[in-house]
Amino acid sequence: MREKLQTPRHVAIIMDGNGRWAKSRRKPRFSGHKQGVKTVRRTVEYAASIGIESLTLYAFSSENWGRPEAEVKLLFELLSLSISEQLADLHKNNIMLNVIGDQTALPGRLVKKIVRAVDLTQHNTGMKLNIALNYGARWELASAAKELALGCVRGEIKPEQIDEARLEGCLSTAGQAELDLLIRTGGEHRLSNFLLWQAAYAELYFSDTYWPDFNEAELDEALSWFASRKRRFGKTDEQISPQAIKAGG
Ligand code: FPP
Repeated sequence: MREKLQTPRHVAIIMDGNGRWAKSRRKPRFSGHKQGVKTVRRTVEYAASIGIESLTLYAFSSENWGRPEAEVKLLFELLSLSISEQLADLHKNNIMLNVIGDQTALPGRLVKKIVRAVDLTQHNTGMKLNIALNYGARWELASAAKELALGCVRGEIKPEQIDEARLEGCLSTAGQAELDLLIRTGGEHRLSNFLLWQAAYAELYFSDTYWPDFNEAELDEALSWFASRKRRFGKTDEQISPQAIKAGG
């Protein structure tokens, strides 16, 4: 049983290491992705069970198009299959599915499936599950800028009214809790064009574990690490916890 610690409201994960997991077992890369889907399922269930409000998973980046065509195709098939297999459970668990990213370039059949799944779960009041698909943070920020510019052209807002809150309102995570914790598995220490705006004050946690091996215990470790962080948001220690400082804590 987990001790009661400060639980982050919004957690994002860069699920890296599927290919290396497979290679270390002399299996094809695709078997790493398949195993990765199982980890996704367990992680979603666990995150919802411990009260995380939003979970954002990087499933396919805009840069992933550069992979061999066969791998891209298989990844989309796997995603499509995952939606078919997991939708009923997501719905039963009151999870609201949200897909973020540029869907215009995705295969039509996958988009239809996504739309149906998002529709089915849109009134659910439990955890928000954001799947980033053909997502890139620079694309997201450029889209937000475009939306604001169009608002100006249409006379709905004045350029001088554009501020952080308005820009944030145009992001794919608008209205959700601020990102508290960003986890990357697989040993790399990069954001890879993921949630660049949202990560402004997030705690960054890097694990060497390959995504298929990431489990509840590993997530607990990341959550305990998060709970031990002093989050100052640019303030001083004294401002954050005056009593603790006075008491020498
Ligand atoms: C990174 O591993 C992983 C991906 C590019 C795909 C992530 C996708 C899944 C886990 C499956 C589908 C997801 C959902 C939400 C059902 P990599 O291939 O870059 O690994 P490597 O760095 O070891 O080569």
